[in-house]
Amino acid sequence: MKFFIDTANIDEIREAKELGILAGVTTNPSLVAKEGVDFHDRLREITDLVSESVSAEVIALDAETMINEGKELAAIAPNITVKVPMTPDGLKAVHAFSELGIKTNVTLVFSPVQALLAARAGATYVSPFLGRLDDIGHDGLDLIDQIAAIFETHKLPTEIIAASVRHPVHVTEAAIRGAHIATIPLKVIKQLTKHPLTDQGIEKFLADWENRK
Ligand code: E4P
Repeated sequence: MKFFIDTANIDEIREAKELGILAGVTTNPSLVAKEGVDFHDRLREITDLVSESVSAEVIALDAETMINEGKELAAIAPNITVKVPMTPDGLKAVHAFSELGIKTNVTLVFSPVQALLAARAGATYVSPFLGRLDDIGHDGLDLIDQIAAIFETHKLPTEIIAASVRHPVHVTEAAIRGAHIATIPLKVIKQLTKHPLTDQGIEKFLADWENRK
């Protein structure tokens, strides 16, 4: 499983990149709005920093406008992936993008059959939202199992991005259950590096070193 960062913040992207584990970036309208910057300018900054997939979401709800918006986003840099919401118009747009050779990430996926539809429409990635399902009393991770099984059975090339990741257990389980990618906020990426026994071990090694004969 690869690691993407889920943010539109350039410092956070830089910090994750320095760890040497970063394989892509996802943004969404809420994350971009938090930054208070021009969307296209920020995408240019991000794509200058990261050469792998950078997801940028369309705002339109009808297929025709989504396609126009997506073309504009894709023209910013060759590694832009157009993020499209999981709706009938979204599927139409994904199909059009796949004919044009533009990569897509179908977002706001909450059921296995939504993921299957997106894959059949030609999506490069689907993004099941784990945390938001957990929030309403479902087990978001079950959705990863179901989508992974369907994609495997039907030999679908679409990659699963575990999204709406809230804590390290989501990441471990997403990897075990067959997500290809997890898109993770920086706070959780940092949590992943930590273990109390690692800290205690370092402390002990250093104390022993100081007391060497
Ligand atoms: C994914 O691409 C989304 O940007 C993101 O994971 C949404 O997460 P949230 O539910 O924490 O907003």
